[in-house]
Amino acid sequence: MSLAERPKLELHLHLEGAAPPGLIRDMAREKRVDLSGVFDARGHYHYDDFLGFLRLYEAVVSVLRTPEDFRRLTRAVLAESAANGVIYTEAFLSPDFCGGRDLSAWRDYLAAIRDAADEAERQDGIVMRGIVTCIRHFGPDAARQTARCAAETADDWLTGFGIAGDENAYRPGDFAWAFDCAREAGLRLTAHAGEWGGAQSVREALADLRVARIGHGVHAIEDPALVERLAEDGVTLEVCPGSNVALGVYRDWRRHPIEALRAKGVKVTVSTDDPPFFHTSMRHEYDRLAETFDWDETVFAEVERNAAQAAFCDEATRTALM
Ligand code: ADE
Ligand code: ZN
Repeated sequence: MSLAERPKLELHLHLEGAAPPGLIRDMAREKRVDLSGVFDARGHYHYDDFLGFLRLYEAVVSVLRTPEDFRRLTRAVLAESAANGVIYTEAFLSPDFCGGRDLSAWRDYLAAIRDAADEAERQDGIVMRGIVTCIRHFGPDAARQTARCAAETADDWLTGFGIAGDENAYRPGDFAWAFDCAREAGLRLTAHAGEWGGAQSVREALADLRVARIGHGVHAIEDPALVERLAEDGVTLEVCPGSNVALGVYRDWRRHPIEALRAKGVKVTVSTDDPPFFHTSMRHEYDRLAETFDWDETVFAEVERNAAQAAFCDEATRTALM
């Protein structure tokens, strides 16, 4: 089977971060929103560094206003994923951007997103599950409200809770209440850590938030004892190599630690994070991994199995993916 044909599983995709630039331009025109500075001369999203990326992200999100906007967004994102061979995707959804963390508004946005996901499953054969994510730089109080939205809407589709945003803002322990609330509601947990922070940030996410998976986690490589522990405990890393290279976490693909982590027994998976912001797709990630690290069918089968095992879905869905 060629790499393009492999059925791919993605565990780390931000719904708004996957917004096709064309869709955002169309919506901005319809609503007369000024997006100057958002696009470069070629029509790509434009930013200089990580904090610039976060600001740009929020500018893009400012165009997405109604549940219907999120229905259109979800449909477009899933069509693109399916065209890249993705059969299962877990997308981060943010009540912060969907009704400002108001529960009743969040229910309306969630219904619209699920409606689009159901349509995509029928038409494109792609299965989606939602992970509510709080935004770290919005602070612990906002995260509590986000966790309440997640807890009230947790079910067999809305299956996870996580945290994204600026890893240098606050400490993982500041969000323990939100994660406890989500865990008590039966949600499965993940946290962005070790993308900008070092190994200690991963250690704190595991200790204080008790997550099963880590978003990125790549800086764990700097701490051999932590790497050993991740491998022993079967903590799955949602690794996004193209994102890390585009944002400058690593200077080039050769220096990326995904293969070193895998070789040490850590369960790694592959995702795109925010594909149009980083000029990537799941197909592109696969091609670059094969080219850079000589990954063959056996290795791709291993990371796909890791993803199926760590997916936040029910057992029947997992079995169908394996
Ligand atoms: N939100 C969207 N993409 C992100 C990333 N790579 N790191 C932290 N927060 C994010
Ligand atoms: Zn992310």
